[in-house]
Amino acid sequence: MSRPELEAYWLPFTSNRYFKQHPKLVVSAKGAYYRTEDGRELFDCLSGMWCCPLGHAHPKIVEALARQAETLDYSPAFQVGNSATFRLAERIAGMAPAGLDHVFFANSGSEAVDTALKIALAYHRVRGDAGRFRLIGRERAYHGVGFGGISVGGMVANRKAFASAMLPGVDHLPHTWNLSAMAFSRGQPTWGAHLADELERLVALHDASTIAAVIVEPVQGSTGVLVPPLGYLERLREICTRHGILLIFDEVITGFGRLGANFGAQRLGVVPDMIAFAKGVTNGVIPMGGVIVRQDIYEAFLHAQIPEYAVELFHGYTYSGHPIAASVGLAALDIYQQEGLFEQALALEPVLEAAVHSLKGEPGVLDVRNFGLAAGIDLEPFPGQPGRRAFKVFEYGFEHDQLFRFTADTIALGPPFISTPAELERMIEQLRVAIRTVKPDRSRSMG
Ligand SMILES: Cc1ncc(COP(=O)(O)O)c(C=O)c1O
Repeated sequence: MSRPELEAYWLPFTSNRYFKQHPKLVVSAKGAYYRTEDGRELFDCLSGMWCCPLGHAHPKIVEALARQAETLDYSPAFQVGNSATFRLAERIAGMAPAGLDHVFFANSGSEAVDTALKIALAYHRVRGDAGRFRLIGRERAYHGVGFGGISVGGMVANRKAFASAMLPGVDHLPHTWNLSAMAFSRGQPTWGAHLADELERLVALHDASTIAAVIVEPVQGSTGVLVPPLGYLERLREICTRHGILLIFDEVITGFGRLGANFGAQRLGVVPDMIAFAKGVTNGVIPMGGVIVRQDIYEAFLHAQIPEYAVELFHGYTYSGHPIAASVGLAALDIYQQEGLFEQALALEPVLEAAVHSLKGEPGVLDVRNFGLAAGIDLEPFPGQPGRRAFKVFEYGFEHDQLFRFTADTIALGPPFISTPAELERMIEQLRVAIRTVKPDRSRSMG
């Protein structure tokens, strides 16, 4: 594409000035690979953006999408339903931990998170407990870009420009990463369960009667795969239960097999009151998100003292439960199940773990972490240029057939479940070469 053709589009979370000087375009995708404009294949190291675990252009998904588009391409989301959406809700509820059995649909992770936060506030209110208005998030959390999500989120760059518009009454738990206590942990770190007790401190400060919900990602994905310490989530659960605070898991990344189980809740053995999901539910082929809620949360709305024809929850989107997304979701869930792909992700976990930890000792590698089919590698930044080193590793990968993903100076890996062990090992070897090439002391000579 020519420079003028690139002008109109304002790319999200991207340096537009740089991109338009150095455009990176992909033209097609099949299986675990993208094809670039100049005909090269790139291995999809992060399954799109954590959302395409089945790889690309799966024939059953393509077929489901086309069939649904021909049959019923849209149906109004309010006061009318379509069968695909009901069937998908039932399937998702069946995959969730026992007791979480109603599904509200949205269209993205951000919408899923804001929906969960709104359900939490409305739930307490409908039960006559409207004093519970506070929401507790966590440092280094990413919960999308809605006003709710950035308020409970913990990434400063996403918050500072909008500081004036943060939700009132929000507080944050500390994040759980600590270099000196857990560097190069394999799986869950053994240190850090006590950090959950910070919630007791917030309860003592604000009083439980003002706190509606705590929201955490079971594994913090977007800030570099921060794995929960052993016992940490169990303690959060226990404290929330004791104080009548709802616990929300944001499983936008960890849901649908990334941790080798249906949801992180099951892999980690901790059941929240709500799960926000998105991404893998449709294999990223078409936007969809949602919230799975505990039965009694749903029922609290149904038992409200309002006429039977009255709306119970004033919330929803034009595209909630879109029939094409629902059909694609049903096809994706069939494939995960029929091809045993969550089990496959679990089986690949030790392969990724062994390979990624071999990066310890490479120039400027500060930490390596892994859990499920996900890993994070922290790189020592170029002096005075935070984020630039990982960006250069990403660019090196793009030129050398690996689509890496970075955040600040961390490389995140979350390959497709259909990857072979050889592909995972090759990904790490390519990353090793990139890290060696983009060394801290070469910072001045690279563009
Ligand atoms: C944990 C988590 N929550 C929410 C979101 C936001 O999802 P979306 O970009 O679909 O709005 C993301 C995106 O990466 C995420 O990782």
